[in-house]
Amino acid sequence: MTDMSLSRRAVMLGVAALPIAQRAAAQARPKPVVVSSANAFNGGINCCAKAMELIKGGGDTLDAVIAGVNIVELDPRDTSVGYGGLPNEDGVVELDASCMHGPTRRGGAVGALRGIKTPSKIAQLVLAETEHMMLVGEGALRFAKAYGFQEEDLNTERSRLAWRTWKREMRDKNGHTNWESLTDAPPKKKIAELRKAFPGVEDDMLGWAYQVAVHPPHGTINCIGLNEKGEMSAVTTTSGMAWKIPGRCGDSPILGGGLWLDQDVGGAGSTGRGEENLRVCGAHTVVENMRHGMSPKEAILDTLKRVSRNFDNDLARLAEIDISFYAVRKDGEYAGGSLWDRPRPGAPAAQFAVCTADGRSRHENSFSLLGRK
Ligand code: GLY
Repeated sequence: MTDMSLSRRAVMLGVAALPIAQRAAAQARPKPVVVSSANAFNGGINCCAKAMELIKGGGDTLDAVIAGVNIVELDPRDTSVGYGGLPNEDGVVELDASCMHGPTRRGGAVGALRGIKTPSKIAQLVLAETEHMMLVGEGALRFAKAYGFQEEDLNTERSRLAWRTWKREMRDKNGHTNWESLTDAPPKKKIAELRKAFPGVEDDMLGWAYQVAVHPPHGTINCIGLNEKGEMSAVTTTSGMAWKIPGRCGDSPILGGGLWLDQDVGGAGSTGRGEENLRVCGAHTVVENMRHGMSPKEAILDTLKRVSRNFDNDLARLAEIDISFYAVRKDGEYAGGSLWDRPRPGAPAAQFAVCTADGRSRHENSFSLLGRK
């Protein structure tokens, strides 16, 4: 039998012609995938596409997911991450980020970092260049500057407008505010008042600023990547809860909370209300659930149930909470799940972003534990 006929026979018989050990390896080869939160302005789709491009080019999985989220950190339109993120109660943008590199089993994080547009890159430097896991506040900023990062004002016109609108809404128990304000009127009149306060700003923008002032959001981006060798990395980055007390760190910089990854099992991350995630050590719980045999969907569902249990499954109290998890198992199976089917009544259904090896980056629907009326 010639070499040619052997290889032709192998092709005809497919993996069945391979020795057992080789067959197992061929079948176990993971399918490269990148998963992230959806984020506004196609942030998740762009993030996953970039990360997959780098993974397919042979790049390291951590470099890939960091490059993906950098797009969103640098986009001033996403007011939940990086530059242009909504500030703390003093009007200062403070950023949190963490990352994990599966092959080396290392992690790094920064908390309450001011003045640096890409906190995920600083978290990566903590991982790569130090023996520490987390730097916060002034120390994190000095560390970033030592590596040549420029300190900048991270507020934009949009984030400043939202903060000033929030300040106008703050009142004492008698309804008084020191800021010029008569803003207790229903929304239509409210816009008229805000128009007077902020001349030249469009109504859509004022409506958005009012909504985020009275319902402080906590967006974030989480991204998890897997290459064909089975190597995985993940990152989470955020500006955290709008109007937070200065120094507040949410779940995003907490390894085990907003992010966890075990090269032997898979990775997970979270967006939404960080405090509720920390009460269930969410990302770590999802990964441990997968270690014990649950699928990514089952692992997330169990974690969401723990969040609900912490509220005695009281739907009225849970209605104020918004939290989502994302998980990728080391074989490439993935899922995205949210506590609620949509962030608020009437809003579009919860989604997450996925890019597969064919380069197709798209949204998929998240499953949910609960449904809003
Ligand atoms: N999950 C983002 C935060 O709560 O800060």
